[in-house]
Amino acid sequence: MTTLYLCGAGNVEGIRLALVVNQSQNRWDQIVILDDDPSKHGRKVLGIEIVGPFTLLNQADPASAEVVNLVTRTTRRRKFALQKIQLYGLPFATLIHPSVDMTGVEFNGDLTVYQNVSFCAAARIEGGCVVLTGAVVGHGCYMGPGCVVAPGAVINARVDLGEGVYLGTNASILPDLKVGPWATVGANSSVIQNVESGATVIGVPAQVLIPGSSTANLEGVAVPAVCPTPEPAKPINGSMKLSTLPEPASPALAKLQLAQQRFTQSHRAA
Ligand SMILES: CC(C)(COP(=O)(O)OP(=O)(O)OC[C@H]1O[C@@H](n2cnc3c(N)ncnc32)[C@H](O)[C@@H]1OP(=O)(O)O)[C@@H](O)C(=O)NCCC(=O)NCCS
Repeated sequence: MTTLYLCGAGNVEGIRLALVVNQSQNRWDQIVILDDDPSKHGRKVLGIEIVGPFTLLNQADPASAEVVNLVTRTTRRRKFALQKIQLYGLPFATLIHPSVDMTGVEFNGDLTVYQNVSFCAAARIEGGCVVLTGAVVGHGCYMGPGCVVAPGAVINARVDLGEGVYLGTNASILPDLKVGPWATVGANSSVIQNVESGATVIGVPAQVLIPGSSTANLEGVAVPAVCPTPEPAKPINGSMKLSTLPEPASPALAKLQLAQQRFTQSHRAA
């Protein structure tokens, strides 16, 4: 008997995607949901039972079971869940909505693609990426491992996303730009220049809300092997005056702080 294990009960749309894929391709005899929140165990989502925690994967047979990481709210949480799931050595399932054309797209097995996504030819997608409803991935784009592209986001031609990039709903990235690893682009933002690793940018055009760094040790940004607090980083307090900010470590950081302060002022005035 073949089984698909869906990890993360909070993602109802992901559960629906698995059902739709199975209706069209008849790939698994049964689908079960796992979640590490004991209060959810025994409940059903779309008729599928949440049978227990991720540790139940140790009972699964890699020859007849596949697993999907449905944790998608932030890329850091997603990686944290991935690291837990990987301990069990099961193959990851590819979940691609049957309506999506993947012709000319390069990807490895672990990919989740929802309804109405448009992939252009020669896009290259690394493992663990999620592309949500209605997003567009332009031709020649590259998505590093574990990226999440939220509904309606548009990645124009040849854009390069580093590992763990999170693009919010309807975000737009102009052609040929690079978004560094573990950066976040806020919903409805328009990115017109490269985004530094670990930065959060928002607005039209996008400006820095939380500075990143091309030289910082990214271990502090990506989820480490053991992640005690997989919460998203909090932004620098928007009400801080520049004079109260710590002494900038470099001219580049001073520039970023100034941009942030200008953005906050214009945002408050608006
Ligand atoms: C960018 C983002 C990650 C920041 O989250 P956060 O770090 O928790 O930041 P906050 O919500 O505290 O917001 C900080 C400030 O930026 C503003 N802001 C947040 N997101 C913004 C956005 N997308 N565009 C413009 N301004 C935004 C807030 O209003 C706030 O302003 P204030 O300090 O003047 O009050 C988040 O707002 C976002 O856009 N996430 C994407 C969500 C999404 O698309 N999910 C898809 C679900 S499928």
